[in-house]
Amino acid sequence: MKVFVTRIIPEAGLRLMKDAGLEISQWTEKRDLTPQELIDHCKPVDALLSAGTNQIDKTFLNACAHLKVISLHSVGYDRVDVPTATALKIPIGNTPGVLTDATADVAFLLILAASRKAFYLHESIERGDWGFFEPKANLGIEIRGKTLGVFGLGKIGFELARCCATAFGMKIIYHNRNRHQQAEKELKAEWVSFDELLRQSDVLSVNTALTPETKGKFNKEAFGKMKPCAIFINAARGGIHNEPDLIEALQKQTIWGAGLDVTDPEPMRPDNPLLRMPNVAVLPHIGSATVETRNAMAVIAAKNIIAGVKGERLLFSVNPEVYSG
Ligand code: DGY
Repeated sequence: MKVFVTRIIPEAGLRLMKDAGLEISQWTEKRDLTPQELIDHCKPVDALLSAGTNQIDKTFLNACAHLKVISLHSVGYDRVDVPTATALKIPIGNTPGVLTDATADVAFLLILAASRKAFYLHESIERGDWGFFEPKANLGIEIRGKTLGVFGLGKIGFELARCCATAFGMKIIYHNRNRHQQAEKELKAEWVSFDELLRQSDVLSVNTALTPETKGKFNKEAFGKMKPCAIFINAARGGIHNEPDLIEALQKQTIWGAGLDVTDPEPMRPDNPLLRMPNVAVLPHIGSATVETRNAMAVIAAKNIIAGVKGERLLFSVNPEVYSG
């Protein structure tokens, strides 16, 4: 059996697949495959391990309907046309759980970095701007005892809320479709409507998946309802905020600051005004980028491939309906 891997992934995952007798071909160029190149590479193989931004859309799936499994090296699956994959009976695997802590840590880092202008001030030293001490210069805002609002309190949102509540005594509010009993019990988190989340949050963190419902949810209207002292954090998917609206909200001081691990588009252009704003911290989508987490993701992605080529249930699948009927 043959597998095509769209990026160089950690050895731990490759070794597992080799030990299982799979023949691996890997894309090693430092650019994305074009949609046609992805199809061409997948035609002769039995399985696809997709790490990165390739669109697994209707055109691709129809052209490669022979695939026994598509295993994502990510928890997010917004770039996959899941209904079409399900209709074609192709199981789609992902890597939930193992990146929870690493991604929550990055959201926490962004809260502190934005609230204390950390990245901007680091750059000001490089520019030779560390002048004489001025009591009113370089002031950030404190987050201790303030309110963290989580939009989409799942595993990552819960871990972030736990850190903020325990380390900084923050009050936790959240907006979800379903109530999160554990967060309400352990963190005294309070469910609020979306409008209340916007109105009450001092720090508002997005920790949900990109779906048609969440796309562009944080737009001019939403930022307009937030506090002028609020910090907006997104470590989920850039498509959930409207980036021109966010830039305008920061420029007009509708909100105070922002911390982004995800942008729209990615990669962010170096001339994006967000990169020059003191109260903004931007990272290049590194939520899961630790040695431990990426190894664990590669192992799960490989195990999903091995199960899929054998026709067995995947360890983690986003469309378990393929097994019914
Ligand atoms: C994920 O796994 O979805 C992370 O955001 C990396 O893409």
